[in-house]
Amino acid sequence: MLLKVAKSSVFLVLAACTVNASAFAEQAEIDRKAVIKYFEDKFEDGEKNKDKFFPYSTDAELKGFIKGVKYNDFGIGTYSYHQAAKDQYLTFKDGIMPYEDAVEKGGKLYTKKFANGNSLATCFPDPTVANQYPKFDETKKAVVSLTVAINNCLTQNGEKPWDTKKGDIASFQGFLASKAVEAGKVVDIKIPTKEATEAYERGKKYYYSQRGYLKMSCATCHVQGAGQRVRNESMSPLVGQTTHFPVFRLKWDHLGTLENRMSGCITDQGQKPPKDDSKDMQEMLYFMGYMSNGMKIDGPDLRK
Ligand code: HEC
Repeated sequence: MLLKVAKSSVFLVLAACTVNASAFAEQAEIDRKAVIKYFEDKFEDGEKNKDKFFPYSTDAELKGFIKGVKYNDFGIGTYSYHQAAKDQYLTFKDGIMPYEDAVEKGGKLYTKKFANGNSLATCFPDPTVANQYPKFDETKKAVVSLTVAINNCLTQNGEKPWDTKKGDIASFQGFLASKAVEAGKVVDIKIPTKEATEAYERGKKYYYSQRGYLKMSCATCHVQGAGQRVRNESMSPLVGQTTHFPVFRLKWDHLGTLENRMSGCITDQGQKPPKDDSKDMQEMLYFMGYMSNGMKIDGPDLRK
C-alpha cells in the first residue's frame, strides 16, 4: 500500500514537471509568434506597406520585393524577399559550393582520434543534433552554444580548443549542419526551467538594447530595419537568422561561424563584441535560436 502511494505521488510530481516545462517557454512562444506575424505582415506586400514599414525605400526597390513571404522562407535572410538577390543566390547555389572541401574536412575531424583515443564522435555520438543548440545545461545552469560544446569536448579530452570563428570549428559545424539537413531536422531549442527562462530573457534584452554613440540595437537593423538598406546592403529578419550557419561569405572568402558574423555586426555598431564563449554571447544566441524554432536547418550556406 505504502509503495503504491509512493509510486502515485512520483507520478504526480513528474506530471507537474511536464506542465511546467512548457510554461517556462510561455513568454518565448508569445515572442516567437509575434515576431513571425510582424515579418509576415511586413513582407506580405512591400509596395502596399511602404508608408507603414518602408518609408525610406524607393518605389523601384519595393517593386523588386517578393510578395507573400512566409515564415519558413526567412531562413535565406535578405534573399527571401528581394527578387533579384534571390535569383542571383539561386544561380550561385546551382554550382559547386565553395564550402564543400571544408564540410568534407569536418567529417574527418568528427572521427579523428584525440591523443587519449576518444574523438568528437565520443561527445556527439549522434551527428544530427546541431538543431538543439544552444542548449540549457541543467547541471551548469547555463546556456551552452554549439561552439562552446565543441570546445568543451576538446578540452575535456586534453586537446587544445579551436578558434571560435573559422577554420576547424567552422568545418566541423558545417559537417554537423549537413548531417542535420540530411536528417530533415528543424530548430528545436528548449526552455526547460526557470533559470533557462531567465537566460532567454537576458539574451532578448541584449538583442533589443541600444548601444554606443549610434544608440543602435540588433533589433534596430534586424527587426524594424529588416528590408531596409544600410551601406547598400539589405538587412535580414531576426527570424531565420541562425538556421543556416556556418556561412561561406564571399566577402570573407572563408566558412565562418555565427559568432564570426555577429561580432562583425557588433563591431560595425561601434562596440566591442562579447567573447564568443561569454554568457552574453551564448544567451543572445539562445534567444535568437528560439526565435527560429521550428524552421528547417539549412546549413552551411552562402552569403555575399
Ligand atoms: C547597423 C545595422 C546593423 C546592426 C545594428 C546589426 N546588424 Fe547584423 N547585419 C547587418 C547587415 C547590413 C547584415 C548583412 C545583410 C544581412 O542581414 O544578411 C547583417 C547580417 C547579420 C547576420 C547574418 C544574417 C544571415 O542571413 O546570414 C546576423 C546573424 C546578424 N547580422 C546578427 C546581428 C546581431 C546579433 C546584432 C546585434 C548584436 C546585429 N546583427 C546588429 C546590419 C546590422
